[in-house]
Amino acid sequence: SGEEIGKAIGVSRTAVWKHINKLRHQGYRIDSSSRKGYSLVNITNSPLPEEIMEGLSTHTLGQHIQYYKEVESTQDIAKQLAAGGADEGTLVIAEKQSRGRGRMGRQWTSSPGGVYLSLILRPEIKPSEALWFPLIAGIAVAQAIRQLVGLQAKLKWPNDIFVGGKKAGGILIEMSAEIDRLDYVIVGMGINVNTRMKDFPQELKKIATSLRNECGQEISSVKLVQAILTILEHWYEDFSTSGFERIRQTWKEMSNTIGSLVSVNTREASIKGHALDIDHDGALIVQSTDGTPKRIIAGDITLRNLDEGNI
Ligand code: BTN
Repeated sequence: SGEEIGKAIGVSRTAVWKHINKLRHQGYRIDSSSRKGYSLVNITNSPLPEEIMEGLSTHTLGQHIQYYKEVESTQDIAKQLAAGGADEGTLVIAEKQSRGRGRMGRQWTSSPGGVYLSLILRPEIKPSEALWFPLIAGIAVAQAIRQLVGLQAKLKWPNDIFVGGKKAGGILIEMSAEIDRLDYVIVGMGINVNTRMKDFPQELKKIATSLRNECGQEISSVKLVQAILTILEHWYEDFSTSGFERIRQTWKEMSNTIGSLVSVNTREASIKGHALDIDHDGALIVQSTDGTPKRIIAGDITLRNLDEGNI
């Protein structure tokens, strides 16, 4: 009862009632009856800091969290925090973004039900080694989806998360660096977790999907974020201590790109060919149709496998 809760924590019944209403507002389902008092029916599916931190076993990632119901872009907030000296592992997370940013200056549609987050890292590496970060982050998201939801998430070079042949998430890596020294990296992730198909803009309906849409049930955003942080911390430590080789192998095993016929659009050229490998810098090696191998460090690719259609 409100009275008992009030006694236990030393506040009035009215204060308890106010807190209960605040929790309801945050998405917790709490029933109340005059006979039985309050009962917690369901916890919220909002990725609130206290829920994410409950049982989180990481050392660094997610140990400081800023949560927003809605922001322009979590990426911009994380950048400001990083420039102001925020700790490595600081997480900025939002349920909605009004100006979400994607790769190559594109807009990232941030429909309700998705998870939008940016993480501050301060790796002691050369700026050129940062090419591995889209791949490391992609592995973490895809492994977390496989582990928690049981869907066969795949990775499309350099940083798309595919489920059931459609895009379910994307990664945006931004960094601040001097010529030979990296100051910080912001790992941005946009994941269509519980997004409903009707909430995607018309032009995305054919090429995008959500985890909920693929598995037919509501997914816990909190558990997914916890899994991503835990797995990302593992790979980040592995990268810092042992280099890229295990990451390269794991990424290749989880990709839908290696072995596929692809079209690549870079700023300079358009190339068709077979995606052969990832090299020691994280660049994609494509055997172009004229027989020469090309090394792609940035660009967009389209998979041209006949069985999957063009994606
Ligand atoms: C892509 O182009 O596929 C990458 C999309 C990355 C979107 C995420 S959502 C959280 C973070 N904030 C942003 O504005 N963008 C990234």
